[in-house]
Amino acid sequence: MQLTSSTADFTRPGPWEDMPAAQQPDWRDHAAYQGARQWLASAPPLVTAAEIRRLRSSLSELVTNGALLLQMGDCAESFYECTPRHISAKLDVIERLGDRLGEITGRDVVRVGRMGGQFAKPRSQATEYQGTLEIPSFRGHMINSEIATPGTRNANPLRMMWAYDASDTVQRAMRAYREGTARVPATDGPWSSHEALVIDYESELIRRDPDTDDLYLTSTHLPWVGERTRGPADAHVSLLSSVANPVGCKIGPTSNTDDILRVCERLDPHREPGRLVLIPRMGRNQIRQALPPVVRRVANAGHPVIWLSDPMHGNTVKSRHGLKTRHLADVITEALRFRDILEKNRQYAAGVHIEVAADDVTECVGGPVETEDDLQRHYTTLCDPRLNADQATELIDAWAKGTVTGRRTE
Ligand code: PEP
Ligand code: CO
Repeated sequence: MQLTSSTADFTRPGPWEDMPAAQQPDWRDHAAYQGARQWLASAPPLVTAAEIRRLRSSLSELVTNGALLLQMGDCAESFYECTPRHISAKLDVIERLGDRLGEITGRDVVRVGRMGGQFAKPRSQATEYQGTLEIPSFRGHMINSEIATPGTRNANPLRMMWAYDASDTVQRAMRAYREGTARVPATDGPWSSHEALVIDYESELIRRDPDTDDLYLTSTHLPWVGERTRGPADAHVSLLSSVANPVGCKIGPTSNTDDILRVCERLDPHREPGRLVLIPRMGRNQIRQALPPVVRRVANAGHPVIWLSDPMHGNTVKSRHGLKTRHLADVITEALRFRDILEKNRQYAAGVHIEVAADDVTECVGGPVETEDDLQRHYTTLCDPRLNADQATELIDAWAKGTVTGRRTE
């Protein structure tokens, strides 16, 4: 009989265990470390192989169908915002923006939330100062607490179990929402996604599907590898290369095309449509120089990737008051430049990957948030500044306006 639980794979560590892995919590000596990993290894999958296959199949047809992809949600999810009220507010925003994009463009929209597991953050600075006290940076609720004291910033492996439980709550709500019969017309998603950052956590949630014998990462439908951890010979890329999920990869402005090609070769060796989503996040100015050579190399190598614009992470600035922010105008500019570049190179621009809050936050400047002075009104993000729904609507409208209405027929 096939083993559906982890037992078969748990005893067989993946090759990535011995590879370099950036941005990992320092917790292997913690008394709870082994126990937390074992607990995860015997936990049920958070998402099913059948669901993952459905998303992968939608993505494989996305380009030929002329459908669009909308991936959105918090920069970092919070354990405290996994209540029914918070989850349904987030799902409502995804639904509203997805519907709007679909209505204006006349295209199907595959919806993916940055939710149900987006609990770990890579950080450019390992520490920060509270006055004169240097403490570890916040790395997401899977790793430590946002509360700024030395003790609460220590990495705690028990948090992997709490992240699993929080994810389970969100995944169940998302499943109920997807399967809800009241939704007309039926839409695709919302599926879950997060950055597969913490190797200890993700490794333990790989399961073999008895029907196909393939390995799936069952922590989420669409895991992605971040700009800071996508080294082609590194652990994160190796882990994602071993599973059959559709996978994403962020691409920053300093990426070298040889490296990106190696990542494509690792993640999409069989050149399968729907397998790999490349997500440039270059900044509104750098994108003009940096993106075209990458697009051409990938296309010439025959990888049928889905190109998705993250117009936010390359446009982060500090406000006069010291808050991290982004200007909506820059975000829109990058998204439209992305689309132009893709079209000029005869590739399909599939949509956007954006950080959006369900609440009426004031974290980015633009639209109803007129100046940097307005940012302090409702600035609640755990990590990067998010658009509010009004600002995201402006972006969606700007994107949709340049999209030829109707399905592509070729
Ligand atoms: C993110 O998506 O929140 C993130 C950290 O992205 P990147 O890896 O592109 O910096
Ligand atoms: Co972010």
